[in-house]
Amino acid sequence: MKKGPVSRGEEFIETRSGNSDPPGEGIGAPTTEDPCGRVSGVEGGVRSASSHDLEACLEIVRSLEDHFTDDVPAKVQSDLSRHGGWVIEDHDQVVGFVVVDRRLPSAAEILWIAVAAARRNVGYGRRLLNAVLGALRDQGTVVVSVKTLDRSADYEPYEATNAFYERSGFVQIDCIDEPPDRPPGNPAAIYVAALQRTV
Ligand SMILES: CC(C)(COP(=O)(O)OP(=O)(O)OC[C@H]1O[C@@H](n2cnc3c(N)ncnc32)[C@H](O)[C@@H]1OP(=O)(O)O)[C@@H](O)C(=O)NCCC(=O)NCCS
Repeated sequence: MKKGPVSRGEEFIETRSGNSDPPGEGIGAPTTEDPCGRVSGVEGGVRSASSHDLEACLEIVRSLEDHFTDDVPAKVQSDLSRHGGWVIEDHDQVVGFVVVDRRLPSAAEILWIAVAAARRNVGYGRRLLNAVLGALRDQGTVVVSVKTLDRSADYEPYEATNAFYERSGFVQIDCIDEPPDRPPGNPAAIYVAALQRTV
């Protein structure tokens, strides 16, 4: 079961402007300067998700049939409602989203991140992730984790996902062969990224 210190009720937090949002409730207005400098040409920006974004996020999930099973839209809906999230837009269209569980003041877990199938591999994911990691760092988060399908599953669609995290600075720290929340044959790779030095 997911647990977290922040319960947001049924509505997502909406903060379309400003960059002084309280922890986890937004990352401010889109910026023209990309923190990693790679995504020139990608339009639109990152903002916190609102309840109005739910259907667009679920549509993204449904567009990724090779990655998400039929039970995932309901889980995303529940997690977005509980934890809030961020979206990235292109010309006012949501093309990607992320949901983060801020479990502790020092530690957060990425529960879901996805870019619409037709928009993958052109930098939206990197831009979205960098913006969210920056917001978490500003809030004092020290480490961020994410769980995904381990390469030992030998499932090609997730090769890009593993590469995405690794190219984004995440380090794999473990593989759980049979995680209790997944059916057999779904080994979990545990990745972490440090946003601050710990030693
Ligand atoms: C994972 C995901 C969010 C990445 O978003 P994206 O917009 O496609 O990724 P980007 O275009 O921003 O690429 C970011 C980095 O990943 C790398 N990458 C992406 N696909 C890759 C692939 N197939 N092989 C190697 N590297 C890859 C890119 O090269 C880039 O690194 P670089 O900037 O150092 O070159 C997106 O592909 C997606 O939605 N995947 C399906 C859903 C999913 O797996 N979600 C995560 C579940 S845990």
